[in-house]
Amino acid sequence: MAEQGSQTRPLHRSRLAAANRPRALRYAHIVGWGMEVPSQVLTNSDLEAIVDTNDEWITTRTGIKERRIAEQRETTTSLATRAAQKALDVADMLPSAIDLIIVATATPEYIFPSTASMVQDYLGATNAGAFDLSAACSGFVYALDMAASKIRTGEIDTAVVIGAETLSRVVDWADRGTCILFGDGAGAVVLQGSDIPGGILSSVLRSDGSGWDMLTLPTVSSRDTYLQDGKHEMHRIYMDGKGVFRFATRIIGDSIKAALEQVGLTPDDLTLVIPHQANQRIIEYAAKSLKIPEERVYSNIARYGNTSAASIPLALAEVAERELIKPGDILAFVGFGGGLSWAAMIVEWSAMPARTAYSLTWGRRQGEYALAWLRRPLVRLWRRLMLLTPPAIIRRLRQRAGLAAEDTIETEPPRSRPAQEDTPPDSAS
Ligand code: ACO
Repeated sequence: MAEQGSQTRPLHRSRLAAANRPRALRYAHIVGWGMEVPSQVLTNSDLEAIVDTNDEWITTRTGIKERRIAEQRETTTSLATRAAQKALDVADMLPSAIDLIIVATATPEYIFPSTASMVQDYLGATNAGAFDLSAACSGFVYALDMAASKIRTGEIDTAVVIGAETLSRVVDWADRGTCILFGDGAGAVVLQGSDIPGGILSSVLRSDGSGWDMLTLPTVSSRDTYLQDGKHEMHRIYMDGKGVFRFATRIIGDSIKAALEQVGLTPDDLTLVIPHQANQRIIEYAAKSLKIPEERVYSNIARYGNTSAASIPLALAEVAERELIKPGDILAFVGFGGGLSWAAMIVEWSAMPARTAYSLTWGRRQGEYALAWLRRPLVRLWRRLMLLTPPAIIRRLRQRAGLAAEDTIETEPPRSRPAQEDTPPDSAS
């Protein structure tokens, strides 16, 4: 925790103390997990046709053999939605039971609305708040910490936390130093509150903004000077690979140790570390700095490359699906990247192995997805109808008849260009 200032300003003492007293402390448990990756595979040899590289260099320097690339119809939202649906299946939970959806992403479909709001719509999670979180490759751990904190205070009971990216849309396909690294995908977890101890135990969130320019993805409000130096481009990833490598190896072990210390544990207590999948050499370095065997640091970078905020939940979903962890195991998550930012978290795994069951809840879940799909056009139609006040109808009729006065004050919002075809993710259809 950051050191408190020695002096604090006096506070007004609320007369509503009883009403805003912190609620009973709860524990936040991971009860569902899911992942979704595009089916299109780009291997190292495929890359040889795009840039001056080779399988041997990529494998030895990064550990990556292949990565998944989103097709045109696949978006950050569709991957995130599908991963969330799978996580809800494992948790056997209804979308209407979700209180909060957070999507950690550096590649949202829009600056606004948030990807989380779109996911909320596709899931039919009508009782959920939703927002995106931007902390690059550390984003998922940051988001998980935010959701767990809300659960622990008793303010909410259920959250869906997603890491989702379509980085293939923003890599510079002419830069062999970066385009070989990144891939697309999404992973999601369902977090649920309980009185039973366990789940998310501790976390350490940090940032060193002095390194902001080491890893960037400029967007609408980027400074011109930055974009005019010939190296950087709007909506293109720029990375100082060596600098980021040094930074990652410096913080990876120490941040996990700091999170362990908070709950009186040591690296020996760790069953498995799930690090951000950035480079196999960084993953190996994590084992070295924690002095634990390499098998206790999970790696799937060979198959998916660096999927930024999606890499930790994607790896976690794989680990849980393969039943490589069991209740009582102690896990560490560690993310690091743009910001510079980093985050470590200690989790006591509490979920029993998932068994696919076509329960009553499964049927109701499909019903809620179908309802969400039907509701979308109906709600839009309703909004349009609500605009048809009597003066608006008269004005429209006059316009049709060519009688509209030039000085008519426009009270209706200007007509925008035709909306894009709003295709829900495959699964939701
Ligand atoms: N194929 C063949 N040769 C290459 C390639 C390639 N794809 N890329 C670079 N090279 C060459 C370079 O030109 C250089 O040649 P030179 O010596 O003749 O100049 C040589 O290989 C060595 O290049 P380096 O950049 O020094 O290679 P390095 O060993 O540092 O590996 C890498 C580069 C893989 C990018 C590494 O630095 C790294 O993984 N950095 C960390 C990245 C990371 O962790 N990102 C996480 C955050 S991502 C986020 O937050 C969105």
